[in-house]
Amino acid sequence: MQSKVVAVVPAAGFGTRLGGARPKQFLSLGGRPLLTRTLMALEAAAALSAVVVVCPPGAEDETRESCIAPYGLSKVAAVVPGGAQRQDSVAAGVAAAIELGAGWLVIHDAARPLAPPELFARVLAAAQETGAAIAAAPAADTVKRSDAGGLVAATLERSELWLVQTPQVFERGLLLRALAAAQEEGYYATDEAGLVERVGGKVRLVMGGRDNFKITTPEDLALARGLLGGEARVGQGFDAHRLEPGRRLVLAGVELEHEVGLLGHSDADVITHAVMDALLAAAGLGDIGQMFPDSDPAFAGADSIALLRAVVERLAAEGWRPAQVSATLLAQAPKIAPHYPAMRARLAEALGLAPGEVNLAASTTEGLGFVGRQEGMAALATARVAPR
Ligand code: CTP
Ligand code: MG
Repeated sequence: MQSKVVAVVPAAGFGTRLGGARPKQFLSLGGRPLLTRTLMALEAAAALSAVVVVCPPGAEDETRESCIAPYGLSKVAAVVPGGAQRQDSVAAGVAAAIELGAGWLVIHDAARPLAPPELFARVLAAAQETGAAIAAAPAADTVKRSDAGGLVAATLERSELWLVQTPQVFERGLLLRALAAAQEEGYYATDEAGLVERVGGKVRLVMGGRDNFKITTPEDLALARGLLGGEARVGQGFDAHRLEPGRRLVLAGVELEHEVGLLGHSDADVITHAVMDALLAAAGLGDIGQMFPDSDPAFAGADSIALLRAVVERLAAEGWRPAQVSATLLAQAPKIAPHYPAMRARLAEALGLAPGEVNLAASTTEGLGFVGRQEGMAALATARVAPR
């Protein structure tokens, strides 16, 4: 089957320039591993029939379990170990793709998660005319060559310059010839087209969007997270506690002077509890009753700000971060407004937000109901969470 189109995804790099705790392809992007995002784009590209993932040697099982199996990526047909250089990893992936019967090979960096699925079909169509085609974007900035001392040596003609991306698509025989020649000569290029050019292949440039950038530095990761920011979600929370003499009154982590305080299993910080529920709701993680059961003596008298920190950690483990919080306290007395700055600062610090992203409001109920009779206080909160 010479016409079978198989994608090879090199994902065996170290991510040195990003400098994360793990190689960048395993970091979270919009609640999913970055590699998973890339594989989702390939899954959606109708022109591709199978995908080979090249992962760090020894990480095959982990890659399957954490990035592929949970996400229904039915096109992934093989996960193979990579090599020391990108080109070695690509060669390993190409060998596996040939075994799968590839007639056309589509090389696509794991580190380009934002490639639009339609780009694969366009590059493939161009390659089918010349034998090779690559996605690339015309240089938007002027490009200069520097000398060793950091002085400008030359200004290049911008209209001729293209910044090369992936996918890069090749006819099977042409790519195999190019890889074999490079291996024989010990030659390394930074992209596969570079190898094909050396053996005389004609490589067509296909317009790729600037959004198909490679995640290389921490700024790139922040940019990609920003572009996916539309996936932010909101949740609401509510809580109420009874007022009793002899109890402390703790609101948003700040203790207030008052003749009565709130009764509860923990410190009964009603604002912080509503905020926690709103955060958990936004992330689809249930509520604080499930996370910190009343029956658990570990939470007796607990500092609710410490519980809030645990909620933020739980969100992080699921790929979310707090983005904005707004809470309203219903209380007949005392006056809350003078304490807003301290309360906002305390919540913001625990949430990892700026105080401006945490709003507090308070209202009496004009003497009505349990709040008006000063039998208790209640709080409402809305939270927005964004992918990490
Ligand atoms: N890659 C690979 N095997 C290698 C090196 C890189 O499969 N030995 C992959 C990376 O995982 C990435 C793609 O090739 O998906 C592009 O490489 P690059 O952006 O340079 O990623 P890293 O090599 O991981 O990053 P750095 O160069 O900063 O270490
Ligand atoms: Mg690299």
